[in-house]
Amino acid sequence: MDAISYRPIGIIHTPFATPKATPIQPKYAEGAKGRVVLDQAYAEGLADVDGFSHITLVYHLHRSEGYKLKVVPYLDTEERGLFATRAPRRPNAIGISVVVLERVEGNVLHIANVDMLDGTPLLDIKPYVEGFVGDTPVHTGWIGRVSHERAEGRADDRFHKEDD
Ligand SMILES: C[S@@+](CC[C@H](N)C(=O)[O-])C[C@H]1O[C@@H](n2cnc3c(N)ncnc32)[C@H](O)[C@@H]1O
Repeated sequence: MDAISYRPIGIIHTPFATPKATPIQPKYAEGAKGRVVLDQAYAEGLADVDGFSHITLVYHLHRSEGYKLKVVPYLDTEERGLFATRAPRRPNAIGISVVVLERVEGNVLHIANVDMLDGTPLLDIKPYVEGFVGDTPVHTGWIGRVSHERAEGRADDRFHKEDD
């Protein structure tokens, strides 16, 4: 298949300079504040975004290199198929995070619960709408079997380690 290329529409700023100091998901990043600086050319597209409490950010995991198709995820000790995980090293290094939208000021979005590195290139913004999932029951595979306490513990451990 032909390659597809995207141009970033902005930059995500966060307090996190190294991968290991970065929370693994917004759930484990409560209170971590950041900013999206959208390229001025797209600012008009932010009209009405302030009505949403959460937005989905789609971004390029720009410091991710390579991938393996079987990985031991952060929240587990067993190997899992890459596509059953949210691991950052992937054939297409695309990340998605549902973050809290605190306010919009011109082309700047003030956000919270950020789990990406400072300087991450932004590809898209979409409003988060819980109801769009529909009524089919949600099954969360191996992640649903990780106990809440264990997940919190593992996320926390990693968050407090120094980077490689
Ligand atoms: C488990 S991934 C989840 C990212 C996103 N929430 C998702 O599910 O697609 C989060 C981890 O990716 C790494 N990471 C975050 N931003 C990155 C970036 N711009 N480049 C490379 N790695 C990044 C950090 O180690 C962070 O803890």
